[in-house]
Amino acid sequence: MEKFARPKSPSRKRWSIGLSIAVIIVIIIVIVVPLAVLLPERGHKGQKSAVILPLYIYPSNSSSWDPLYEALDAHPELHFLVVINPSNGPGNNPLPDDNYSAQILKLNNYTNVETVGYVRTGYATQNITNVAEEVATYAGWDTQNNSLAMHGIFFDEAPHEYSADAVSYMQIVNQVVKNSTLQGAKTVIHNPGVIPDSRFDDSTTDITVIFEESYPVYQTKVTALTDLNKKNRTEYAYMVNSIPTQSLNALRSYVDTLSEHAAYLFVTNNNQNFYDSFGSMWSDFTAVIPT
Ligand SMILES: *[C@@H]1O[C@H](CO)[C@@H](O)[C@H](O)[C@H]1NC(C)=O
Ligand SMILES: *[C@@H]1O[C@H](CO)[C@@H](O)[C@H](O)[C@H]1NC(C)=O
Ligand SMILES: *[C@@H]1O[C@H](CO)[C@@H](O)[C@H](O)[C@H]1NC(C)=O
Ligand SMILES: *[C@@H]1O[C@H](CO)[C@@H](O)[C@H](O)[C@H]1NC(C)=O
Ligand SMILES: *[C@@H]1O[C@H](CO)[C@@H](O)[C@H](O)[C@H]1NC(C)=O
Ligand SMILES: *[C@@H]1O[C@H](CO)[C@@H](O)[C@H](O)[C@H]1NC(C)=O
Ligand SMILES: *[C@@H]1O[C@H](CO)[C@@H](O)[C@H](O)[C@H]1NC(C)=O
Repeated sequence: MEKFARPKSPSRKRWSIGLSIAVIIVIIIVIVVPLAVLLPERGHKGQKSAVILPLYIYPSNSSSWDPLYEALDAHPELHFLVVINPSNGPGNNPLPDDNYSAQILKLNNYTNVETVGYVRTGYATQNITNVAEEVATYAGWDTQNNSLAMHGIFFDEAPHEYSADAVSYMQIVNQVVKNSTLQGAKTVIHNPGVIPDSRFDDSTTDITVIFEESYPVYQTKVTALTDLNKKNRTEYAYMVNSIPTQSLNALRSYVDTLSEHAAYLFVTNNNQNFYDSFGSMWSDFTAVIPT
């Protein structure tokens, strides 16, 4: 006796079930696949962020900054905060040299660029009068040609360990920037490279670089960084070097994660002389930043 015999169905019915399945598959292919292709942003979880670029490359010819111009042209909706650094500061002359001037004029012509000048504080040890003079030099660039204007200052080697003197020093240099004839927002950026003592918090500091280290070190500090970011991510920047070569999707996912906690980002696969060249992942990085 045959157990569990299949009910005998007419082959016509089986044929029509097969046809229905085929039709459903075709519908899925025709409707769902193009939607998935048209909507690559689906499930994108990053938050709108900007590039902070330490542009420490001497423009010895008109092509030296081409990777930057290519990214600016490709991503007009992406904001680029570009740190200009002729000589660990503005240099000894009132104006940048002709090579620099030509490229700064070109850069400032982009509506998605905000140029800021580089000044070292030596962890609040540099003569504060000289620091103020360097800020004044950047502020003076536009007197020659308005298109050379800087729009803020990037204070490198900012202190992170508390002392009343260091806090007061940073408050004064911030005020020098805000009082200056720099243009635009007169954005003040501090780069301690790590999370500074909370007593450095000051309403005149617009952005603080709270991470400037390698990709492996990021993994060890992620808890401290994300805890801190219960506050406002628009006040924070991360600059991550030595990131491994990876697929565009993997890079997008990493940058999305960073963007949850800092609104100004820079990542490079350079593992030495991090800022002397753009690095081979520069173009991919600018393509994946959430805008
Ligand atoms: C521009 O850069 C080139 C190449 O480094 C150099 O030879 C030249 O002296 C520079 N020009 C100025 C005005 O500094
Ligand atoms: C321009 O300068 C860059 C370095 O900034 C160099 O790599 C490149 O070879 C130079 N190109 C020309 C055409 O001289
Ligand atoms: C500035 O941009 C305009 C329009 O995009 C262009 O015509 C002009 O040549 C640019 N100027 C400089 C100095 O690059
Ligand atoms: C800082 O520099 C100024 C001018 O260069 C000088 O007059 C002053 O004595 C210096 N201050 C210190 C503490 O070295
Ligand atoms: C600034 O310099 C650029 C390039 O040399 C020139 O085209 C422009 O006319 C200058 N603008 C002023 C206001 O001098
Ligand atoms: C900035 O300007 C304010 C108001 O004019 C002044 O009280 C203050 O001393 C200035 N601070 C610095 C560091 O220039
Ligand atoms: C964060 O700061 C930005 C810019 O100052 C402001 O527009 C925004 O409302 C702030 N967000 C929160 C959650 O405080």
